[in-house]
Amino acid sequence: MPTLSSTSLANRDHAVLWHPYTQMQTAPLPIPIVRGEGSWLIAEDGTRYLDGISSWWVNLHGHAHPHIAERVSEQLQTLEHVLFAGFTHPTAVELAEQLLALLPENQARVFYSDNGSTAVEVALKMVLQYFHNLGQPERRTFLCFRDSYHGDTFGAMAVSSRGAFTQPFWPLLFEVEFIDVPVPGREAEVLAQLHTALTRPNVAGFIFEPLVLGTAGMVMYSPAVLTEMIRSCHQHGVLCISDEVMTGFGRTGPLFASSLLTEQPDIMCFSKGLTGGTLAMGLTTCAAPIYEAFLSDDKMRALFHGHSYTANPVACAAALASLELTRAERCTQQRQAIEDAHAAFRREIEMLPGIRQVRHRGTILAVEYDPGEGTSYFSRLRDAFYQLAIDSHVVLRPLGNVVYLLPPYCTTAEELTLLYGVLRQMRELVLDFLPAPTLPEYLHD
Ligand SMILES: Cc1ncc(COP(=O)(O)O)c(C=O)c1O
Repeated sequence: MPTLSSTSLANRDHAVLWHPYTQMQTAPLPIPIVRGEGSWLIAEDGTRYLDGISSWWVNLHGHAHPHIAERVSEQLQTLEHVLFAGFTHPTAVELAEQLLALLPENQARVFYSDNGSTAVEVALKMVLQYFHNLGQPERRTFLCFRDSYHGDTFGAMAVSSRGAFTQPFWPLLFEVEFIDVPVPGREAEVLAQLHTALTRPNVAGFIFEPLVLGTAGMVMYSPAVLTEMIRSCHQHGVLCISDEVMTGFGRTGPLFASSLLTEQPDIMCFSKGLTGGTLAMGLTTCAAPIYEAFLSDDKMRALFHGHSYTANPVACAAALASLELTRAERCTQQRQAIEDAHAAFRREIEMLPGIRQVRHRGTILAVEYDPGEGTSYFSRLRDAFYQLAIDSHVVLRPLGNVVYLLPPYCTTAEELTLLYGVLRQMRELVLDFLPAPTLPEYLHD
């Protein structure tokens, strides 16, 4: 770890910056990263850290990827930005055309914004104004998963779990109807909850993280039950928003998690991997009937939402370059290799003591450790896990007792071996945390 005396960049940071999700009084100094290369982040002092979580799930093809860098650089020298009301530009059109050709067939329009939270805000506004424009403004309740996370802006917080992080804002968050996540074994129960919720008047939309709830601890559920849920919503005229901010661009195996569904969402949200992890950008896509509900001679029916950097040409260029890499055969092979390696590792550890459950879909692997009864161990354990990873020169961000891998697609077999090694060491740490087992009677003396 850097120390106050040895790391000038960390010192300068400490004097002027305020970091996200960080208790600034007690957090150790940040590690100053000066370069990225493939799956590695290189610190000011030359230490190399393996990025096991794609820098908060954004990076797809490795850091400072030359192809993306080249396209971004070309775009910077051609057109860095132009306002997107009354104007358009080639990369925005090209990206929308390419994405719509890849997305589920019903997706017809692309609305650009800045990040995952704004992509979600736009989706929520589309749903609410859709019903407003149709003359049903009373339809404004959203259904959401109890443990979901959709971002940090107010609308996104409102449709997310009422967890400790949002507690100061609870009084200002609009009310929603929560349902449980239909994890394996609980499908019928949750479908019943959904059916009850759908009988309430004024339900407008159902928003969900498809197949994997990231922040909840990589909680996974099946495409079959999600298909069933969307179908039920549609039978009640409820619009469905698939938040693919984390799952998009190959994370769950196919290009989009929604590709595994047989009933399609009406609205989809993207960010993170959209630009391959190069620039901040979000986008929301929707089916034709939603777009058409905003068409009118009356200006007030338009979607009055926009950001200064909407459809930034440089971000669009990065997204086009990243999409080209994602669609190449090589990337499919890389993702398959990671998926196979995860499956083998899962088989190796899932039955061992200290492991509660191992979950796996596509390039995402989550190990839920079993620290015994006392959940009070969780925060201590989380910090111990984090430190163990950093000491092993690996970047991981444990979610309580869940440690997950979500590596860039260029991560090699050797690099995965290193990551699995850290997960094995974490199991040993958990075994040390566990209270000593009581010995059977006959073993005493
Ligand atoms: C599913 C999901 N939606 C939305 C967001 C918010 O994205 P951003 O951090 O870019 O605002 C996240 C971020 O982790 C996410 O995982």
